[in-house]
Amino acid sequence: MQFLLLLPLLASTGLASAAVFGSPVTHVKRDSWGGSVSLGPTKSTIINAVTTLIPGTAPSTQNGELFLWPGMSNGTGDLVQTTLESWPDNSWCGATTGQWCVRASVFGYFGQLDGTASPVSGTDKVRIEYNLESDGQTWKQTVTNAETGALLSTYSRASGPYMTGYGTGTECDNSCTGTIAPQQYLDTTITLASADTTFGSTISTAQSATYSGLESSEGGKVWKIATINILSMS
Ligand SMILES: *[C@@H]1O[C@H](CO)[C@@H](O)[C@H](O)[C@H]1NC(C)=O
Repeated sequence: MQFLLLLPLLASTGLASAAVFGSPVTHVKRDSWGGSVSLGPTKSTIINAVTTLIPGTAPSTQNGELFLWPGMSNGTGDLVQTTLESWPDNSWCGATTGQWCVRASVFGYFGQLDGTASPVSGTDKVRIEYNLESDGQTWKQTVTNAETGALLSTYSRASGPYMTGYGTGTECDNSCTGTIAPQQYLDTTITLASADTTFGSTISTAQSATYSGLESSEGGKVWKIATINILSMS
């Protein structure tokens, strides 16, 4: 997963994701991207972000590597990104055909750091929460099955208090077999340290992704997107 620096670029530039995702000039040609919805940078900072991903069935065979992730960054620091992963052999997490492996993870100058992984099915509701802990430095990722509450993965790292961008990614590396089903992200809620009434206007989409129900509360401190829909790549 060495090509995941795209979201930081996106967050730092605040450009439409189409402009960035559509021009992977910093990446090898065989990598490609599916649909995405992202927000940022905020004039404030993010202190909590939660979403529930219904991943759809994973490809039954995989030629490369395919990743689904909501990511959070400030453009220069760590990328906090719980990833749903499809590898040629996904048995390393206990997945069977059509299942994903999910793990909390952080990408940065050090490479990729991961929590333990669990298998998830296409219809599972995977709740992914990023929370800035009370020390003001540590981001705790908590991944659970939204229906059963079962813990799927967790990871904590002191990535700092200056997170400004959040977005989804569908990342296809090494001539991957693309998604065979759409993805849905439900009730995505981003809480800022202080109100930023303009955060909603930074939203952008790529590759025909759509969203509905973007609204803020607490004067622009809490931002919610009811539904994000990402099209299947095939
Ligand atoms: C991003 O966060 C890191 C860690 O807190 C910090 O060192 C860096 O200055 C931040 N970058 C921006 C652009 O705010």
